[in-house]
Amino acid sequence: MVENSLDAAELAGMLPDVYVRIVPNDPSAENLNQEPKAYRVTVADNGPGVDPHHVPRAFGKVFYGSKYVLRQSRGMFGMGGTMAILYGQITTNRPVKITTSTDGKSRHIFEMLIDISENKPIILRKDTEEGAGKTGTRVDVILEGDFTRSAQKINEYFKQTALVGSYANLTFVDPIGRITTYERATESMPSAPKETLPHPHGVDVEALKRMIKITEEKNMLRFMGNKHFHRVGETNAKKFLQFAGVDGKIAPEKLSNEQIVKVVDALQRYPEFLPPDATCLSPVGEQILTTGIIKELLPEFSTVVLRPPSSYSGFPFLVEVGLVYGGKVLEPGRKLFRFANRIPLLYDESNDVSFKVVNEEIDWRRYHVPDEAPIAVITHICSTKVPYKTVGKEYIADRPEIEAEIRNGVREALRRLSVFLSKKGSMEASQRKMNIYAKYLPLIAQFSTGLAGLKKEPRYKQLIREEQEEAEEIKQEAAEEAEKAIQGDKIIEQTTIEDYR
Ligand SMILES: Nc1ncnc2c1ncn2[C@@H]1O[C@H](COP(=O)(O)OP(=O)(O)OP(=O)(O)O)[C@@H](O)[C@H]1O
Ligand SMILES: [Mg+2]
Repeated sequence: MVENSLDAAELAGMLPDVYVRIVPNDPSAENLNQEPKAYRVTVADNGPGVDPHHVPRAFGKVFYGSKYVLRQSRGMFGMGGTMAILYGQITTNRPVKITTSTDGKSRHIFEMLIDISENKPIILRKDTEEGAGKTGTRVDVILEGDFTRSAQKINEYFKQTALVGSYANLTFVDPIGRITTYERATESMPSAPKETLPHPHGVDVEALKRMIKITEEKNMLRFMGNKHFHRVGETNAKKFLQFAGVDGKIAPEKLSNEQIVKVVDALQRYPEFLPPDATCLSPVGEQILTTGIIKELLPEFSTVVLRPPSSYSGFPFLVEVGLVYGGKVLEPGRKLFRFANRIPLLYDESNDVSFKVVNEEIDWRRYHVPDEAPIAVITHICSTKVPYKTVGKEYIADRPEIEAEIRNGVREALRRLSVFLSKKGSMEASQRKMNIYAKYLPLIAQFSTGLAGLKKEPRYKQLIREEQEEAEEIKQEAAEEAEKAIQGDKIIEQTTIEDYR
Protein backbone atom coordinates (compact mmCIF):
# COMPACT_ATOMS: atom_id res chain seq x y z
CA MET A 1 0.00 0.00 0.00
CA VAL A 2 2.94 2.31 0.65
CA GLU A 3 4.19 1.51 -2.83
CA ASN A 4 0.79 2.35 -4.30
CA SER A 5 0.83 5.68 -2.48
CA LEU A 6 4.32 6.55 -3.70
CA ASP A 7 3.49 5.47 -7.27
CA ALA A 8 0.32 7.56 -7.30
CA ALA A 9 1.99 10.74 -6.06
CA GLU A 10 5.09 10.38 -8.23
CA LEU A 11 3.22 9.56 -11.44
CA ALA A 12 1.14 12.70 -10.82
CA GLY A 13 4.34 14.71 -10.28
CA MET A 14 3.52 15.43 -6.62
CA LEU A 15 6.10 15.26 -3.81
CA PRO A 16 4.83 12.32 -1.74
CA ASP A 17 3.75 12.48 1.91
CA VAL A 18 2.88 9.04 3.20
CA TYR A 19 1.56 8.29 6.66
CA VAL A 20 1.40 4.77 8.06
CA ARG A 21 -0.04 3.70 11.37
CA ILE A 22 -0.40 0.27 12.91
CA VAL A 23 -2.54 -0.05 16.09
CA PRO A 24 -4.02 -3.05 17.87
CA ASN A 25 -7.62 -3.23 16.76
CA ASP A 26 -8.76 -4.06 20.28
CA PRO A 27 -6.63 -2.01 22.65
CA SER A 28 -7.99 -3.61 25.84
CA ALA A 29 -5.26 -4.45 28.33
CA GLU A 30 -5.58 -8.26 28.31
CA ASN A 31 -5.18 -8.34 24.55
CA LEU A 32 -2.11 -6.15 24.38
CA ASN A 33 0.67 -8.69 24.95
CA GLN A 34 -0.88 -11.43 22.91
CA GLU A 35 0.55 -12.15 19.44
CA PRO A 36 -0.59 -12.62 16.75
CA LYS A 37 -3.59 -10.35 17.00
CA ALA A 38 -5.77 -8.11 14.87
CA TYR A 39 -4.17 -4.80 13.91
CA ARG A 40 -5.59 -1.86 12.07
CA VAL A 41 -3.16 -0.77 9.36
CA THR A 42 -3.70 2.70 7.93
CA VAL A 43 -1.86 4.06 4.91
CA ALA A 44 -2.71 7.61 3.88
CA ASP A 45 -1.18 9.72 1.12
CA ASN A 46 -1.38 13.16 -0.45
CA GLY A 47 -1.52 11.73 -3.99
CA PRO A 48 -4.07 12.51 -6.71
CA GLY A 49 -6.75 10.23 -5.20
CA VAL A 50 -8.74 7.57 -7.02
CA ASP A 51 -11.76 8.35 -9.16
CA PRO A 52 -14.75 6.97 -7.16
CA HIS A 53 -15.87 4.95 -10.20
CA HIS A 54 -12.60 3.05 -10.10
CA VAL A 55 -12.44 2.49 -6.34
CA PRO A 56 -14.45 -0.76 -6.19
CA ARG A 57 -12.33 -2.44 -8.86
CA ALA A 58 -8.97 -0.96 -7.88
CA PHE A 59 -9.34 -2.16 -4.28
CA GLY A 60 -11.87 -5.00 -4.60
CA LYS A 61 -10.70 -6.97 -7.60
CA VAL A 62 -7.47 -8.88 -8.05
CA PHE A 63 -5.61 -8.19 -11.32
CA TYR A 64 -7.16 -4.77 -11.77
CA GLY A 65 -4.61 -2.02 -12.05
CA SER A 66 -3.73 1.14 -13.91
CA LYS A 67 -0.10 0.12 -14.36
CA TYR A 68 -0.25 -2.47 -17.10
CA VAL A 69 1.13 0.13 -19.53
CA LEU A 70 4.82 -0.09 -20.37
CA ARG A 71 6.37 2.46 -18.08
CA GLN A 72 8.48 2.13 -14.97
CA SER A 73 6.45 2.01 -11.77
CA ARG A 74 6.54 0.02 -8.55
CA GLY A 75 3.25 -1.67 -9.36
CA MET A 76 3.12 -4.28 -12.07
CA PHE A 77 0.58 -7.00 -11.44
CA GLY A 78 -2.62 -5.34 -10.16
CA MET A 79 -2.59 -7.42 -7.03
CA GLY A 80 -0.33 -5.88 -4.35
CA GLY A 81 -2.85 -3.66 -2.58
CA THR A 82 -5.72 -6.04 -3.23
CA MET A 83 -3.79 -8.96 -1.73
CA ALA A 84 -3.18 -6.96 1.47
CA ILE A 85 -6.91 -6.26 1.64
CA LEU A 86 -7.72 -9.89 0.96
CA TYR A 87 -5.29 -10.99 3.65
CA GLY A 88 -7.17 -8.78 6.11
CA GLN A 89 -10.44 -10.26 5.00
CA ILE A 90 -9.41 -13.90 5.38
CA THR A 91 -7.77 -13.36 8.79
CA THR A 92 -10.31 -11.05 10.47
CA ASN A 93 -13.28 -11.04 8.08
CA ARG A 94 -13.48 -7.25 8.39
CA PRO A 95 -14.08 -4.99 5.40
CA VAL A 96 -11.51 -2.55 4.04
CA LYS A 97 -12.26 1.15 4.25
CA ILE A 98 -11.13 3.46 1.45
CA THR A 99 -11.35 7.22 1.77
CA THR A 100 -10.31 9.17 -1.26
CA SER A 101 -10.56 12.62 -2.79
CA THR A 102 -9.52 13.69 -6.27
CA ASP A 103 -10.40 17.39 -5.89
CA GLY A 104 -10.25 18.17 -2.18
CA LYS A 105 -13.86 19.36 -2.31
CA SER A 106 -15.60 16.05 -1.81
CA ARG A 107 -14.40 12.88 -0.18
CA HIS A 108 -15.64 9.40 -1.04
CA ILE A 109 -15.81 6.66 1.52
CA PHE A 110 -16.17 3.00 0.66
CA GLU A 111 -16.36 -0.06 2.84
CA MET A 112 -15.95 -3.27 0.90
CA LEU A 113 -15.30 -6.96 1.02
CA ILE A 114 -13.98 -8.98 -1.90
CA ASP A 115 -16.15 -11.78 -3.26
CA ILE A 116 -13.36 -14.32 -3.60
CA SER A 117 -15.13 -16.84 -5.82
CA GLU A 118 -16.25 -14.16 -8.31
CA ASN A 119 -13.21 -11.86 -7.90
CA LYS A 120 -15.42 -8.81 -7.52
CA PRO A 121 -16.11 -6.21 -4.83
CA ILE A 122 -19.05 -6.35 -2.41
CA ILE A 123 -19.79 -2.74 -1.45
CA LEU A 124 -21.11 -2.40 2.10
CA ARG A 125 -21.01 1.37 2.40
CA LYS A 126 -20.61 4.21 -0.06
CA ASP A 127 -20.77 7.80 1.14
CA THR A 128 -19.70 11.19 -0.04
CA GLU A 129 -18.70 13.87 2.46
CA GLU A 130 -17.32 17.35 2.24
CA GLY A 131 -13.58 17.22 1.56
CA ALA A 132 -10.84 18.68 3.72
CA GLY A 133 -9.30 20.69 0.88
CA LYS A 134 -6.68 18.08 0.03
CA THR A 135 -6.49 15.27 -2.47
CA GLY A 136 -5.28 11.83 -1.51
CA THR A 137 -6.20 8.33 -0.51
CA ARG A 138 -6.44 6.56 2.81
CA VAL A 139 -6.79 2.81 3.19
CA ASP A 140 -7.72 1.16 6.51
CA VAL A 141 -7.30 -2.61 6.69
CA ILE A 142 -7.78 -4.80 9.73
CA LEU A 143 -5.54 -7.82 9.54
CA GLU A 144 -4.01 -10.37 11.83
CA GLY A 145 -0.32 -10.01 12.41
CA ASP A 146 2.56 -10.43 14.81
CA PHE A 147 4.17 -7.03 15.20
CA THR A 148 6.82 -8.23 17.62
CA ARG A 149 8.14 -10.58 14.96
CA SER A 150 7.78 -8.24 12.01
CA ALA A 151 8.91 -4.95 13.57
CA GLN A 152 12.49 -5.26 12.39
CA LYS A 153 11.54 -5.86 8.74
CA ILE A 154 8.95 -3.07 8.81
CA ASN A 155 11.48 -0.59 10.16
CA GLU A 156 14.05 -1.76 7.64
CA TYR A 157 11.46 -1.27 4.88
CA PHE A 158 10.92 2.37 5.83
CA LYS A 159 14.62 3.09 6.25
CA GLN A 160 15.43 1.72 2.83
CA THR A 161 12.44 3.42 1.23
CA ALA A 162 13.78 6.70 2.63
CA LEU A 163 17.26 5.89 1.31
CA VAL A 164 16.10 5.92 -2.34
CA GLY A 165 13.20 8.31 -1.80
CA SER A 166 14.86 11.28 -0.15
CA TYR A 167 12.19 13.50 -1.78
CA ALA A 168 9.36 11.87 0.23
CA ASN A 169 8.03 12.49 3.72
CA LEU A 170 7.37 9.19 5.45
CA THR A 171 5.77 8.89 8.86
CA PHE A 172 5.36 5.61 10.67
CA VAL A 173 3.49 5.21 13.95
CA ASP A 174 3.99 1.78 15.50
CA PRO A 175 1.55 -0.07 17.83
CA ILE A 176 3.04 1.40 21.00
CA GLY A 177 2.77 4.89 19.58
CA ARG A 178 6.40 5.48 18.65
CA ILE A 179 6.55 7.89 15.73
CA THR A 180 9.38 7.66 13.23
CA THR A 181 9.61 10.35 10.60
CA TYR A 182 11.79 10.24 7.54
CA GLU A 183 11.84 13.80 6.39
CA ARG A 184 12.11 15.03 2.85
CA ALA A 185 15.65 16.25 2.16
CA THR A 186 15.27 17.40 -1.43
CA GLU A 187 12.48 18.91 -3.47
CA SER A 188 13.61 17.38 -6.73
CA MET A 189 11.99 14.18 -7.89
CA PRO A 190 13.24 11.75 -10.52
CA SER A 191 11.87 12.76 -13.93
CA ALA A 192 8.56 11.07 -14.68
CA PRO A 193 8.84 8.03 -16.94
CA LYS A 194 7.00 8.10 -20.27
CA GLU A 195 4.67 5.41 -21.50
CA THR A 196 6.16 3.32 -24.28
CA LEU A 197 5.10 0.79 -26.93
CA PRO A 198 6.09 -2.88 -26.68
CA HIS A 199 9.45 -3.66 -28.22
CA PRO A 200 9.17 -6.46 -30.81
CA HIS A 201 11.74 -8.62 -28.99
CA GLY A 202 9.54 -8.61 -25.88
CA VAL A 203 6.26 -9.65 -27.54
CA ASP A 204 4.88 -13.15 -26.90
CA VAL A 205 2.05 -15.03 -28.59
CA GLU A 206 -0.64 -13.85 -26.16
CA ALA A 207 0.50 -10.25 -26.42
CA LEU A 208 0.47 -10.36 -30.24
CA LYS A 209 -3.02 -11.86 -30.23
CA ARG A 210 -4.23 -9.08 -27.95
CA MET A 211 -2.69 -6.45 -30.22
CA ILE A 212 -4.28 -8.01 -33.31
CA LYS A 213 -7.67 -8.02 -31.59
CA ILE A 214 -7.66 -4.29 -30.95
CA THR A 215 -5.78 -2.95 -33.96
CA GLU A 216 -7.52 -0.85 -36.57
CA GLU A 217 -4.85 -1.47 -39.19
CA LYS A 218 -6.06 -3.35 -42.23
CA ASN A 219 -2.85 -5.04 -43.34
CA MET A 220 0.31 -6.48 -41.74
CA LEU A 221 2.61 -3.83 -43.20
CA ARG A 222 0.64 -1.03 -41.48
CA PHE A 223 0.24 -3.14 -38.35
CA MET A 224 4.00 -3.69 -38.03
CA GLY A 225 5.15 -0.24 -39.03
CA ASN A 226 2.60 2.11 -37.57
CA LYS A 227 2.60 2.85 -33.84
CA HIS A 228 2.12 -0.63 -32.46
CA PHE A 229 5.74 -1.48 -31.87
CA HIS A 230 8.48 0.50 -30.23
CA ARG A 231 10.87 2.10 -32.76
CA VAL A 232 9.61 0.18 -35.81
CA GLY A 233 8.87 2.28 -38.89
CA GLU A 234 7.59 1.35 -42.33
CA THR A 235 10.99 0.51 -43.88
CA ASN A 236 12.03 -1.84 -41.13
CA ALA A 237 8.52 -3.33 -41.04
CA LYS A 238 8.81 -4.23 -44.73
CA LYS A 239 12.21 -5.85 -44.23
CA PHE A 240 10.96 -7.70 -41.18
CA LEU A 241 7.93 -9.15 -42.99
CA GLN A 242 10.24 -10.44 -45.71
CA PHE A 243 12.42 -12.01 -43.03
CA ALA A 244 9.37 -13.60 -41.39
CA GLY A 245 7.96 -14.79 -44.72
CA VAL A 246 4.64 -13.00 -44.16
CA ASP A 247 2.72 -11.16 -46.86
CA GLY A 248 2.45 -7.45 -45.99
CA LYS A 249 -0.99 -7.20 -47.57
CA ILE A 250 -2.64 -9.83 -45.40
CA ALA A 251 -5.05 -8.52 -42.72
CA PRO A 252 -3.75 -9.08 -39.17
CA GLU A 253 -6.93 -10.85 -38.03
CA LYS A 254 -6.60 -13.29 -40.94
CA LEU A 255 -3.37 -14.76 -39.51
CA SER A 256 -3.74 -18.39 -38.45
CA ASN A 257 -2.51 -19.57 -35.08
CA GLU A 258 0.49 -21.16 -36.77
CA GLN A 259 1.32 -17.92 -38.57
CA ILE A 260 1.09 -15.97 -35.31
CA VAL A 261 3.58 -18.31 -33.67
CA LYS A 262 5.83 -17.93 -36.72
CA VAL A 263 5.63 -14.11 -36.53
CA VAL A 264 6.45 -14.10 -32.82
CA ASP A 265 9.42 -16.35 -33.41
CA ALA A 266 10.65 -14.01 -36.13
CA LEU A 267 10.01 -10.94 -33.94
CA GLN A 268 12.34 -12.36 -31.37
CA ARG A 269 15.04 -13.36 -33.85
CA TYR A 270 15.08 -10.46 -36.34
CA PRO A 271 18.41 -8.72 -35.76
CA GLU A 272 17.69 -5.27 -37.17
CA PHE A 273 15.18 -3.82 -34.72
CA LEU A 274 16.54 -0.76 -32.94
CA PRO A 275 17.23 -1.26 -29.22
CA PRO A 276 14.56 0.11 -26.86
CA ASP A 277 15.07 3.68 -25.69
CA ALA A 278 14.98 4.57 -22.03
CA THR A 279 12.42 7.36 -21.82
CA CYS A 280 10.09 4.96 -20.00
CA LEU A 281 12.67 4.56 -17.22
CA SER A 282 13.28 6.81 -14.28
CA PRO A 283 16.40 6.16 -12.22
CA VAL A 284 16.71 7.87 -8.85
CA GLY A 285 19.74 9.84 -10.05
CA GLU A 286 22.96 10.80 -8.34
CA GLN A 287 21.73 13.87 -6.48
CA ILE A 288 18.64 12.28 -4.94
CA LEU A 289 20.41 9.03 -4.07
CA THR A 290 23.39 10.84 -2.55
CA THR A 291 20.99 12.97 -0.50
CA GLY A 292 19.35 9.78 0.78
CA ILE A 293 22.72 8.17 1.56
CA ILE A 294 23.94 11.21 3.48
CA LYS A 295 20.65 11.50 5.37
CA GLU A 296 20.29 7.84 6.32
CA LEU A 297 23.90 6.58 6.54
CA LEU A 298 26.05 9.65 7.44
CA PRO A 299 28.99 8.19 5.47
CA GLU A 300 32.68 9.00 5.29
CA PHE A 301 32.70 8.32 1.55
CA SER A 302 29.99 7.60 -1.01
CA THR A 303 29.72 7.43 -4.75
CA VAL A 304 26.92 6.75 -7.23
CA VAL A 305 27.30 5.19 -10.67
CA LEU A 306 24.54 5.46 -13.26
CA ARG A 307 24.99 2.84 -15.98
CA PRO A 308 23.70 3.54 -19.48
CA PRO A 309 20.37 1.91 -20.41
CA SER A 310 20.41 -1.57 -21.86
CA SER A 311 17.76 -4.18 -22.61
CA TYR A 312 16.91 -7.80 -22.02
CA SER A 313 14.32 -9.65 -24.16
CA GLY A 314 13.10 -6.32 -25.53
CA PHE A 315 12.57 -4.74 -22.10
CA PRO A 316 14.68 -1.67 -21.39
CA PHE A 317 16.45 -1.59 -18.06
CA LEU A 318 19.03 0.47 -16.30
CA VAL A 319 21.20 -0.10 -13.25
CA GLU A 320 22.29 2.39 -10.60
CA VAL A 321 24.92 1.49 -8.05
CA GLY A 322 25.78 3.30 -4.84
CA LEU A 323 28.81 2.51 -2.74
CA VAL A 324 29.07 3.78 0.82
CA TYR A 325 32.04 3.56 3.16
CA GLY A 326 32.45 4.28 6.87
CA GLY A 327 30.68 7.01 8.76
CA LYS A 328 28.33 7.02 11.66
CA VAL A 329 25.79 4.32 10.82
CA LEU A 330 27.49 1.45 9.00
CA GLU A 331 28.93 -1.37 11.06
CA PRO A 332 31.99 -3.43 10.08
CA GLY A 333 31.23 -5.82 7.24
CA ARG A 334 29.54 -5.64 3.88
CA LYS A 335 25.85 -4.81 3.62
CA LEU A 336 23.75 -5.02 0.46
CA PHE A 337 20.69 -2.85 -0.17
CA ARG A 338 18.73 -4.05 -3.18
CA PHE A 339 16.08 -2.01 -4.98
CA ALA A 340 13.93 -2.59 -8.04
CA ASN A 341 11.89 0.31 -9.41
CA ARG A 342 12.57 2.01 -6.05
CA ILE A 343 11.10 -0.86 -4.02
CA PRO A 344 13.41 -2.16 -1.29
CA LEU A 345 13.81 -5.93 -1.59
CA LEU A 346 14.10 -7.36 1.90
CA TYR A 347 13.78 -11.10 1.51
CA ASP A 348 15.77 -13.96 0.00
CA GLU A 349 18.91 -11.93 -0.47
CA SER A 350 21.09 -14.91 -1.31
CA ASN A 351 18.96 -15.80 -4.36
CA ASP A 352 19.25 -12.34 -5.89
CA VAL A 353 21.41 -11.43 -8.85
CA SER A 354 22.97 -8.50 -6.94
CA PHE A 355 24.02 -10.82 -4.12
CA LYS A 356 25.67 -13.11 -6.66
CA VAL A 357 27.60 -10.23 -8.24
CA VAL A 358 28.65 -8.52 -5.00
CA ASN A 359 29.57 -11.61 -3.00
CA GLU A 360 30.59 -14.16 -5.58
CA GLU A 361 31.84 -12.39 -8.69
CA ILE A 362 33.66 -9.33 -7.42
CA ASP A 363 37.18 -9.86 -6.13
CA TRP A 364 37.23 -7.39 -3.28
CA ARG A 365 40.92 -7.90 -2.57
CA ARG A 366 41.77 -6.47 -5.97
CA TYR A 367 40.39 -3.16 -4.76
CA HIS A 368 42.22 -3.41 -1.42
CA VAL A 369 39.00 -3.28 0.55
CA PRO A 370 39.30 -5.38 3.71
CA ASP A 371 36.42 -7.78 4.45
CA GLU A 372 35.66 -6.09 7.73
CA ALA A 373 35.51 -2.56 6.22
CA PRO A 374 32.16 -0.85 6.94
CA ILE A 375 30.64 -0.93 3.45
CA ALA A 376 27.17 -0.72 1.94
CA VAL A 377 26.49 -1.57 -1.70
CA ILE A 378 23.25 -0.22 -3.13
CA THR A 379 21.91 -1.69 -6.36
CA HIS A 380 18.87 -0.29 -8.12
CA ILE A 381 17.37 -1.93 -11.20
CA CYS A 382 14.83 0.11 -13.16
CA SER A 383 12.80 -1.56 -15.86
CA THR A 384 9.37 -1.67 -17.43
CA LYS A 385 9.45 -5.32 -16.48
CA VAL A 386 11.69 -6.26 -13.58
CA PRO A 387 12.46 -9.99 -13.84
CA TYR A 388 11.32 -10.94 -10.35
CA LYS A 389 11.52 -14.64 -9.67
CA THR A 390 8.25 -14.49 -7.69
CA VAL A 391 5.14 -12.26 -7.67
CA GLY A 392 6.08 -11.30 -4.12
CA LYS A 393 8.79 -9.00 -5.54
CA GLU A 394 11.47 -10.51 -3.35
CA TYR A 395 14.42 -11.17 -5.57
CA ILE A 396 15.60 -10.74 -9.14
CA ALA A 397 16.57 -13.38 -11.63
CA ASP A 398 20.12 -13.46 -12.94
CA ARG A 399 19.50 -12.40 -16.51
CA PRO A 400 23.01 -12.16 -18.00
CA GLU A 401 22.44 -8.61 -19.37
CA ILE A 402 21.38 -7.33 -15.95
CA GLU A 403 24.13 -9.22 -14.20
CA ALA A 404 26.74 -7.61 -16.47
CA GLU A 405 25.44 -4.09 -15.84
CA ILE A 406 25.44 -4.59 -12.05
CA ARG A 407 28.98 -5.96 -12.26
CA ASN A 408 30.21 -2.99 -14.30
CA GLY A 409 28.51 -0.54 -11.95
CA VAL A 410 29.96 -2.11 -8.81
CA ARG A 411 33.42 -2.25 -10.35
CA GLU A 412 33.37 1.42 -11.31
CA ALA A 413 32.20 2.37 -7.81
CA LEU A 414 34.89 0.19 -6.27
CA ARG A 415 37.60 1.82 -8.38
CA ARG A 416 36.57 5.18 -6.94
CA LEU A 417 36.50 3.79 -3.41
CA SER A 418 39.93 2.23 -3.75
CA VAL A 419 41.40 5.57 -4.91
CA PHE A 420 39.88 7.17 -1.83
CA LEU A 421 41.14 4.40 0.48
CA SER A 422 44.68 4.32 -0.86
CA LYS A 423 45.06 8.09 -0.55
CA LYS A 424 43.57 7.94 2.90
CA GLY A 425 45.99 5.09 3.74
CA SER A 426 49.15 6.85 2.52
CA MET A 427 48.13 10.08 4.18
CA GLU A 428 47.70 8.27 7.49
CA ALA A 429 51.00 6.42 7.06
CA SER A 430 53.00 9.56 6.33
CA GLN A 431 51.30 11.28 9.25
CA ARG A 432 52.32 8.41 11.55
CA LYS A 433 55.89 8.56 10.24
CA MET A 434 56.01 12.29 10.87
CA ASN A 435 54.73 11.90 14.42
CA ILE A 436 57.40 9.30 15.22
CA TYR A 437 60.25 11.39 13.76
CA ALA A 438 59.06 14.48 15.52
CA LYS A 439 58.96 12.63 18.81
CA TYR A 440 62.25 10.65 18.72
CA LEU A 441 64.69 12.50 16.47
CA PRO A 442 65.37 15.30 18.97
CA LEU A 443 66.06 12.71 21.71
CA ILE A 444 68.32 10.58 19.50
CA ALA A 445 70.19 13.72 18.47
CA GLN A 446 70.63 14.74 22.08
CA PHE A 447 71.87 11.31 23.29
CA SER A 448 74.17 10.67 20.35
CA THR A 449 75.70 14.11 20.74
CA GLY A 450 76.43 13.23 24.39
CA LEU A 451 77.76 9.77 23.50
CA ALA A 452 80.08 11.12 20.85
CA GLY A 453 81.29 13.79 23.24
CA LEU A 454 80.36 16.54 20.81
CA LYS A 455 79.15 19.99 21.69
CA LYS A 456 76.87 20.64 18.77
CA GLU A 457 73.81 18.53 17.89
CA PRO A 458 73.50 17.24 14.28
CA ARG A 459 71.12 19.12 12.01
CA TYR A 460 68.13 16.77 12.36
CA LYS A 461 65.62 19.59 11.92
CA GLN A 462 66.40 19.60 8.23
CA LEU A 463 65.38 15.91 8.10
CA ILE A 464 62.05 16.60 9.74
CA ARG A 465 61.42 19.49 7.37
CA GLU A 466 62.04 17.21 4.38
CA GLU A 467 59.63 14.61 5.73
CA GLN A 468 57.07 17.30 6.36
CA GLU A 469 57.40 18.48 2.78
CA GLU A 470 56.88 14.92 1.51
CA ALA A 471 53.76 14.49 3.67
CA GLU A 472 52.47 17.80 2.37
CA GLU A 473 53.03 16.61 -1.20
CA ILE A 474 51.05 13.42 -0.58
CA LYS A 475 48.25 15.46 0.93
CA GLN A 476 48.26 17.74 -2.10
CA GLU A 477 48.10 14.75 -4.45
CA ALA A 478 45.22 13.28 -2.46
CA ALA A 479 43.35 16.55 -2.77
CA GLU A 480 43.98 16.59 -6.52
CA GLU A 481 42.81 12.96 -6.86
CA ALA A 482 39.71 13.75 -4.85
CA GLU A 483 39.04 16.69 -7.13
CA LYS A 484 39.43 14.40 -10.15
CA ALA A 485 37.08 11.83 -8.58
CA ILE A 486 34.52 14.57 -8.06
CA GLN A 487 34.90 15.63 -11.67
CA GLY A 488 34.36 11.98 -12.63
CA ASP A 489 31.14 12.07 -10.63
CA LYS A 490 30.07 15.23 -12.36
CA ILE A 491 30.47 13.65 -15.76
CA ILE A 492 28.25 10.79 -14.66
CA GLU A 493 25.78 13.35 -13.38
CA GLN A 494 25.69 15.10 -16.74
CA THR A 495 25.05 11.90 -18.63
CA THR A 496 21.50 11.87 -17.38
CA ILE A 497 18.77 9.80 -18.86
CA GLU A 498 18.11 12.69 -21.30
CA ASP A 499 21.43 12.06 -23.01
CA TYR A 500 20.59 8.45 -23.73
CA ARG A 501 17.29 9.15 -25.45
N1 LIG B 1 -2.96 5.21 -2.94
C1 LIG B 1 -3.43 5.11 -4.18
N2 LIG B 1 -3.62 6.22 -4.94
C2 LIG B 1 -4.06 6.12 -6.23
N3 LIG B 1 -4.37 4.96 -6.84
C3 LIG B 1 -4.21 3.82 -6.13
C4 LIG B 1 -3.73 3.83 -4.78
N4 LIG B 1 -3.69 2.56 -4.35
C5 LIG B 1 -4.10 1.80 -5.38
N5 LIG B 1 -4.42 2.53 -6.45
C6 LIG B 1 -4.95 2.02 -7.75
O1 LIG B 1 -5.31 0.68 -7.54
C7 LIG B 1 -4.70 -0.18 -8.50
C8 LIG B 1 -4.47 -1.55 -7.89
O2 LIG B 1 -3.40 -1.52 -6.96
P1 LIG B 1 -2.58 -2.84 -6.70
O3 LIG B 1 -1.53 -2.59 -5.69
O4 LIG B 1 -3.54 -3.96 -6.43
O5 LIG B 1 -1.91 -3.13 -8.13
P2 LIG B 1 -0.68 -2.40 -8.85
O6 LIG B 1 -0.06 -1.41 -7.93
O7 LIG B 1 -1.19 -1.91 -10.17
O8 LIG B 1 0.33 -3.61 -9.13
P3 LIG B 1 1.14 -4.52 -8.03
O9 LIG B 1 0.36 -5.78 -7.86
O10 LIG B 1 2.45 -4.82 -8.71
O11 LIG B 1 1.26 -3.72 -6.80
C9 LIG B 1 -3.45 0.56 -8.91
O12 LIG B 1 -3.03 0.19 -10.20
C10 LIG B 1 -3.90 2.02 -8.85
O13 LIG B 1 -4.54 2.38 -10.03
MG1 LIG C 1 0.64 -1.97 -5.99
